[in-house]
Amino acid sequence: MTRWHGLLAVGLLAAWPAGPAAQAATDGLSPPAVEFSFDGPFGRIDHAAAIRGFEVYRNVCAACHGLRFLAWRNLADLGFGEDDIRRLAADTLVMDGPDDTGEMFERSGRPSDPLIPEPFPNPQAAAAANNGVAPPDLSLKVLERGAPYVYGILIGYEDPPEGVDAGASYYNPYFPGSVIAMPKPLWGEDVTYADGTLATIEQEAHDVATFLAWAADPSADERKRMGLRVLIFLLVMTGVFYATYRRTWTPVKRGDADL
Ligand code: HEC
Repeated sequence: MTRWHGLLAVGLLAAWPAGPAAQAATDGLSPPAVEFSFDGPFGRIDHAAAIRGFEVYRNVCAACHGLRFLAWRNLADLGFGEDDIRRLAADTLVMDGPDDTGEMFERSGRPSDPLIPEPFPNPQAAAAANNGVAPPDLSLKVLERGAPYVYGILIGYEDPPEGVDAGASYYNPYFPGSVIAMPKPLWGEDVTYADGTLATIEQEAHDVATFLAWAADPSADERKRMGLRVLIFLLVMTGVFYATYRRTWTPVKRGDADL
């Protein structure tokens, strides 16, 4: 073993434990290795999963987390027809106003209304109701942390290890700092899926992460499709240009061009 090898080994040993351990303390555990239909350049949102995730979100998460960038009409992306969207929105009650007399009033929803209305009147009320931490809006969470992170948070609740006091909060190693103010939201069978899928906790977590991936970037699929078309176009054009090049220059190189 040369001196360099020795130094390398010492360096690796010194760096090795610092990596994962330091990460656990600050960033939380790395998210679980879970796969999604939309992974990679050819992946697409699984619409059925996103719709199941919407059912979970509406019935569980919406009590605490708003989704400020989505309106009912965005559901068209997931294959809902205009009439369905109008009917679903109309089934909800929306606080509107003030009217001419200065009063707020309730009316039935419209396609332009928020898909998930803000659940609390203000951040202070939101924090007061949740162990002092306002539940964040989840519109862009998947862009920020990735879908596996959301999945990990939902399935990751554990009893705190010896020596860790979560206080009024909860222990979740996937959350940065491991102590989270959100009570475990999913237990399995929190919803009855319209498509008959078994609502295990893993299934619900996976579906709601898919829904949030779509919510964070509803046009991602269209962009990927367009990217693929552009790529194919460029490939075809490369072929065309190469053929043109050959036709033009082969006679010249052979010396029988009619210049
Ligand atoms: C009872 C209220 C409540 C419910 C219901 C709830 N959450 Fe939360 N959630 C919170 C609070 C409060 C926080 C902030 C936790 C903290 O910062 O300690 C949070 C944080 C989160 C985070 C971490 C955000 C970050 O900044 O890293 C995710 C992800 C999340 N919630 C997803 C969900 C999903 C998905 C559901 C539905 C399955 C849900 N939550 C249901 C209250 C709730």
